[in-house]
Parts: sequence; structure tokens; C-alpha cells
Amino acid sequence: MVSFVSGAYILSALLFILALAGLSRHETARRGNQLGMAGMTLALVATLLLVLDLLGDDHLDQGPVVVGLVIVLVAGGIGAAIGLRLARRVEMTGMPELIAMMHSFVGLAAVMVGYNTYLEVADLGLRADAVHDGEVFLGVFIGAVTFTGSVVANLKLSARMGSAPLTLPGRHLLNLAILVASALLMVWFMNADGWAALAPLAIMTVLALVLGFHLVAAIGGGDMPVVVSMLNSYSGWAAAAAGFMLSNDLLIITGALVGSSGAILSYLMCRAMNRSFVSVIAGGFGSDGAVSGEARDYGEHREIQADAVAELLAGASSVVITPGYGMAVAQAQYPVAEMTKKLRERGVDVRFGIHPVAGRLPGHMNVLLAEAKVPYDIVLEMDEVNDDLPDTDVVLVIGANDTVNPAAMEEPGSPIAGMPVLEVWKARDVVVFKRSMATGYAGVQNPLFFKENTQMLFGDAKDRVAEIVAALG
Ligand code: TAP
Repeated sequence: MVSFVSGAYILSALLFILALAGLSRHETARRGNQLGMAGMTLALVATLLLVLDLLGDDHLDQGPVVVGLVIVLVAGGIGAAIGLRLARRVEMTGMPELIAMMHSFVGLAAVMVGYNTYLEVADLGLRADAVHDGEVFLGVFIGAVTFTGSVVANLKLSARMGSAPLTLPGRHLLNLAILVASALLMVWFMNADGWAALAPLAIMTVLALVLGFHLVAAIGGGDMPVVVSMLNSYSGWAAAAAGFMLSNDLLIITGALVGSSGAILSYLMCRAMNRSFVSVIAGGFGSDGAVSGEARDYGEHREIQADAVAELLAGASSVVITPGYGMAVAQAQYPVAEMTKKLRERGVDVRFGIHPVAGRLPGHMNVLLAEAKVPYDIVLEMDEVNDDLPDTDVVLVIGANDTVNPAAMEEPGSPIAGMPVLEVWKARDVVVFKRSMATGYAGVQNPLFFKENTQMLFGDAKDRVAEIVAALG
């Protein structure tokens, strides 16, 4: 049985690697997901078989094995039911906060596994070796940081906590002091025996919970994409740490895959947003808590109606559409796809410019546009489209705000300063679809709305685009 399970684990690990490879491109993402699901099913079945195998072992007291099996089945059933319900109910726009919540579960699980393996050894009156002690201490530390960090990310992403960074005086010193104190507690933990080691472990857990909270609370709204992928990475390392504690090879491999792919994604996000990786990990390091442009007077904005936009589009030869989070909220991708089709039939060159952090998930806009069957070859990355914007007749900004904000380039004190943006204001005409003059996710006012070549089309993006489709006939 053990060799069968080992074989199944190796196959699962391979399926997870293939899943990651599939997820790297739109065309293969669906298959990537299916391979991941197959790998996870195989891993669960193999693990269950391992427990069932213990039932036949005469050397073991069968009572605890049966109780353990029942707990695994009941807990698995409840977990699957909750997961299914949440996944069915969640809107695409609610995915990031759901993911953040799931990361928090992985963190919490690593803390519990750490305490459990520690208590098991202490209860038996055994002296654990230094490697085991190290695994427990680091596993609990990473798990606790991941847990509170992910809870804060969940609260920020679901707008139950403000997106502004928490800038306590001396916050970097506070983080450093917690790290140093944790290192000293680790020395104490490794040198204490049995139950006596519980004190340093418990103190470190509280400190790590505070650190996780503080690291993420200190990060502003605009930098949240990096935080989500970073917590993804932490949750992977927490799972790998739990794998070491449980001597489970598959958990180690899976955790390492999630940890390293999350780290690579965080690095790519940092590069896309022109942020230093170390600064974001250190919790908003280098940001000065910053002035938003909200209080500034940028002058008057101009408004336009849907039929006038239809006329503008009908007379254009090149159009670029830059969608953002508002397109997801309004579910406007379907009328946007229809408008694109109509304009292309009239010979207008229509393309999409996608900012790497548009929406609330990596690839959010690409998924929505693929769902509405917009051809992949006209959906371009920000860098591919930025150079063409000065020669573009009309840009339609559909529910995007921070990702088209010139303040990122023009106002050094802005919280989004330095972030590369879609330079839509360079086009001949810009039409911005949104419901009000409210700021975007980073809480920064957008001078684009007040530029001479910009006109605002107020209202729900889906309704307004549908009106344009109707006017185009
Ligand atoms: P945002 O800056 O979030 O702005 C979205 C705009 O959509 C808002 O200004 C809102 O204005 C408008 N809107 C909302 N509902 C609408 C509706 N029904 N119809 C029309 N407009 C609507 O969008 P963005 O440009 O996509 O930028 C993304 C932001 O989220 C960045 O700051 C990014 O850092 C952050 N973020 C991204 C991610 C990832 S991985 N993509 C993860 C976390 C955070 P009104 O309220 O006036 O309508």
C-alpha cells in the first residue's frame, strides 16, 4: 500500500506541475485547472487509503485510528460542502478576498499542525531533535504571519477595512524588533525541554500574529496585488513547513510549488508596478504614507452622452479600449464584445490595452474578455499598446481608474507614484465610463478626468455600452 501511495503522490506532484504550466497561458488555463483538480483528487484518495491501511494493522490500537478516520471524513465533508457553496456563490469580483481567506486557512492549519506535533512529542515525554524543533518553530511562525496577514488582506479587499496604509511611527523598527525577539525565542525554545518550551512558542505565536497584521496593514491599496501574491507564496511555505512536520513528501512538494510560483508572481508584479520587492515584503517600506491628490483642484470635467460617443466611434479609424475593475463590477464585457464586433465590421481597428494590475486579480480582464469571446489577438499588454496611443483616435476607459492615472507619472508624492500606467491621455479623444467622480482603489483622484481631450460618460458601464451598441445600429 505504501508504495502505491508513494506512486500516487509522485503522479499528483506531476499533475500539479503540469497544472502550473497550463495556467501560464489563456488558451491552456482551463486544462491547467482540470489537471490541478485531478492531482488534488488523487492526493486525497491516496491519503485516505493510507489511513484505511492502518485499520488492518494488528500492532495498533484500532480505537484512535477509527476515530481519526471518522474525523477526517466528517471534517472533509463539511469542508467540501462549505467550499462548494462559497465557490458557487462568489462573484468574479469577490475572488481576491476569497483567495485571501483561503490563504489564512493554510496559515492557521500550519500553526495547528505545529502545536499538534509539538504537543504529541511533549506528551510522550520524548526529547525532540533540533531539526524537528526548528521545523515546528518556523512552521508556526510562517503560519501565524500568513494567517493574520491574509485576514487583513481579506478585510482590505472586501472594503471592510480602509485601503490606506497604516503608518505607525517607527513601524520598521517594530517589525525588526519582532524578528529579533522571535530569533531569541527560537534559541530559548530549542534549549527548553518538554512542556517548558511551550512558553517561547506561545510568545512567538502572538508576536508573529502581530507582525502579519502589521506588515499587510502598512501596505496601501495600490500595492495590494503584490501583497495577495506574496501571501500566496507565504501560504505555500507554510504548507511546506507543515509537510516537513508531518513527514509528508507531497505536502512539501506542493507547498514548495505554491511558495516559489507565488514568489515569482510577486516579483513580476513588483516589476510591473515599478516597486521594490524588498520594500513590499517589509510592509510599505519607503512609502511615506503619502498625500493623495484628492484635495487638489484640477479644474472642470466635461460630460458626453452615449449617442455622441457612438458618433465619435463611427468616425474613428483606430480605437483602444482599456478596461478596469468597473467593467467587472458592471459585467460589461458582453456589450463591450458586441460593440467591438460591430466596430470591426465597420473597418475600425479596435484593440484592448490591459494593465498588469487592472481589476482585482492577475489576468482578471483577460478572463472576462475571453468569457465574452473577444479574440485573443486584439487583447494586448500595456507595454504593447502604450507606444501606439499617440496615434490612436479614441480611447474608451471602461471602469478603469488607477491604471490610467497620469498622477503616477506626474506627481512624485502620490501613493501610486512610479507605477507604470496606460498613457491614454496621449490619444486624440478619451471617453471615461464610470458612475461618478469617485477615486479608484488607491484612493487617489485622477487628473485624466479633467484633461481637455477627456469626456466623462457617467452611469453603469454595462448600460452605457449597451446604449452605444444600440446607437451603432
Ligand atoms: P480602480 O482603480 O479600482 O477603479 C475602478 C473604477 O470603476 C472606479 O473608479 C469606479 O468609479 C468604476 N466603477 C465601479 N463600478 C462601476 C460600474 N458599475 N460602472 C462603471 N464604472 C464603475 O480600477 P483599475 O484601474 O482596474 O485599477 C485596479 C486597482 O486595484 C489598482 O489600484 C490595483 O493596484 C488594485 N488591485 C489590483 C489587484 C490585481 S492583482 N489586479 C489586486 C488588488 C488590488 P465609480 O465608483 O465612480 O463608478
